Amino acid sequence: MNTQRSSTPLAGDITLRASIVKPMAIWFSGLSGSGKTTLGQIIEKRLRAAGMLVKLLDGDILRDGLNNNLGFSLTDRHENIRRAAEVSKLFVQSGFFTINCFITPTHELQQMVKDIIGEENLMSVYLDTPVEVCEERDVKGLYRKARLGVIPEFTGISSPFEPPIHSSVILATHRLSIDEAVEQVIAALIKMPIE
Ligand code: ADX
Repeated sequence: MNTQRSSTPLAGDITLRASIVKPMAIWFSGLSGSGKTTLGQIIEKRLRAAGMLVKLLDGDILRDGLNNNLGFSLTDRHENIRRAAEVSKLFVQSGFFTINCFITPTHELQQMVKDIIGEENLMSVYLDTPVEVCEERDVKGLYRKARLGVIPEFTGISSPFEPPIHSSVILATHRLSIDEAVEQVIAALIKMPIE
């Protein structure tokens, strides 16, 4: 077996493992199409490759199961985020990094996430991508349907989005490559206080 691995792509991740010791919740907020899931999945792989326990919690996935009785009224979004934050907290308490991808559209919901998970266990990442850019991307075709009125209460179109006031990291994803955005998240994670 070849045991020489001095310049493997993993080298950076071994450094990552040595630098990050405290499991925490990484919470991506931002409009639909801002890049939460894309970045979340890459960070998930990076942390796992570095030997961490990782759980990805994504709005679309939770809404298929645990939260499949919830819609998009502000009341239902509140319950959606409350459950997601509680699940995330349980994972963090069990030694997992959680990567959470939820629009989290209002200040009240953003504050609730902090209150449930605890500021010391949370790294909040706001994907500050203008609605025009998300609409132009329209990866899932939902903005078109929202404009046609087929989907009511669509965030950024017919339902509010309040940009978070305090975030650990703010990323203008429309001005960054995916790699640059990932590196900024990892760099911020390494700098997070560990106690
Ligand atoms: S949140 O507002 O409660 O945080 P969440 O992140 O779980 O939302 O779900 C957002 C995802 O649901 C979007 O990425 C999109 O795929 C889908 N979706 C369907 N209807 C809507 C809607 N009315 N507003 C926003 N997203 C919607």
